[in-house]
Amino acid sequence: MQETEKNLLQTLERIAKLLSSYGSFDSILKQVLHVIETEAGLKDPAITILNFSSSLRPKDKKREELEKKYKPPLKDKVPFNGSTFLISPIRIEGRDIGFISAIAEEKDVREEVLSFLSFVGSLIGFSFFVLAKEKTEVKNVGNIIFRSKQMDEVIKLALEVAKSDATVLIRGESGVGKELLAELIHNNSPRKSKMLVKINCAAIPENLLESELFGYKKGAFTGAITDKKGKIEMADGGTVFLDEIGDLPLPLQAKILRLIQNKEIEPIGGQPKKVDVRIISATNRNLEELVKEGKFREDLYYRLNVIPIYIPPLRERKEDILPLVEFFIEKFNKKYKKNISISKGALTILEKYQWYGNIRELENLIERLVLTSSDLVITPDDIPDYIKEKIHEEEKRKKEEPEEVLPSKREKKAEENKKKTALQEIFEKLEISDSRGLLSLIEDIEKKIIENVLAESKNISDAARKLGISRRQLEWRLRKYKIEFLNYGRKSSFQK
Ligand SMILES: Nc1ncnc2c1ncn2[C@@H]1O[C@H](COP(=O)(O)OP(=O)(O)OP(=O)(O)O)[C@@H](O)[C@H]1O
Ligand SMILES: [Mg+2]
Repeated sequence: MQETEKNLLQTLERIAKLLSSYGSFDSILKQVLHVIETEAGLKDPAITILNFSSSLRPKDKKREELEKKYKPPLKDKVPFNGSTFLISPIRIEGRDIGFISAIAEEKDVREEVLSFLSFVGSLIGFSFFVLAKEKTEVKNVGNIIFRSKQMDEVIKLALEVAKSDATVLIRGESGVGKELLAELIHNNSPRKSKMLVKINCAAIPENLLESELFGYKKGAFTGAITDKKGKIEMADGGTVFLDEIGDLPLPLQAKILRLIQNKEIEPIGGQPKKVDVRIISATNRNLEELVKEGKFREDLYYRLNVIPIYIPPLRERKEDILPLVEFFIEKFNKKYKKNISISKGALTILEKYQWYGNIRELENLIERLVLTSSDLVITPDDIPDYIKEKIHEEEKRKKEEPEEVLPSKREKKAEENKKKTALQEIFEKLEISDSRGLLSLIEDIEKKIIENVLAESKNISDAARKLGISRRQLEWRLRKYKIEFLNYGRKSSFQK
């Protein structure tokens, strides 16, 4: 095989891997461009996807004109400033959604180079097609990311109670997003233009907590040289968020009760004052237990618990893990000016882990991975050992449970297979090796793509539409690749 051809083949393999990794499509496309430039030796590669948030193209007037001229694009190569301009369409379901272009330094470019670019374009189109289908709706409500039904209910309830002044008690393990939810409620309430004042009852030393909360009068104690407003008074007209309410000392519990009942506070050494605040509290402790032990006032418990909202732990809503990973990768890519994505293998590990520290633990891990990753893709090797060990222990524990609780191995395997993207299956089935030419590899991939689309199509016209080619073109390919199309049990063969 020729050197250039071998090189293009390896580049193609790398791009295929990138496209089947998980991450925001935007950052994956940027990586693809980088690979085209550094490994296939094409200059200024550009991907333009209509209606896409970012434009991944260099600024060049003459080239822009060329791209316009070829829109809707045809696959072509044309002379350009002494080199060659290459362009090829990106299609989904027969619609042109954009194009890929690049500059080759030579005047006479080999046909393989254009085929290579055109093939990358097809792969991108196909990835888009698969992605669009796979994505069930991920929601972002006030920066709370979720896809699970449980969280959907939590958010609906929160938005509903936000409208009123009702006292809310948010429960849930550490790191599930209690504070974030309190912010959501405040920001969607009629009080949103006033302050949300957060007080962590566990973080402030007991002897300072009272003056922090209620303020003091000048001369109330040594050192009180001026009047000081308490945090609750600062929130007048707004919301007070009492975090870790289970740690509130008993004497202060009485004062909070008075605030709720009489809408009144008493600064240390001063007169009682009226304040208008809404109270949202949160805890990860078992308040009922604390009441029983006499560490938490029962009357206060009932006053706070008017509307309880429980946020389930992440391990009980595993569908949220992937969107959260994507969200945090994007967040830290921006923060650290990086362009990292994550492989499906690494994701599978993250999905299996129990996340006892919930979203906070996940967020911290992703930040570390993005910051320390030397490669563009986070792979299973990058995931810390303690996570893999915990998963291993968990699996061992499950195996020791009674047999009937476990789904059979085959069922499990079928379940796992279902989770793979169509694209991954295609790439896994392919044995990319140096011994074959680029065109034969492209034919193989084309065949697999056709088979995949056929499996999900009602009839040949439907499949042709999805593939963006005519029915006649598809029939020709079915004959070429000896593919049979099975339609409702009726066999129509295209074999000669
Ligand atoms: N659904 C979510 N989407 C995006 N980020 C989230 C989500 N849930 C939590 N986070 C983030 O995870 C971190 C922990 O959330 P938060 O501080 O609200 O948890 P918490 O329940 O108050 O934890 P603790 O009990 O430890 O105080 C924060 O950085 C928060 O922004
Ligand atoms: Mg918190």
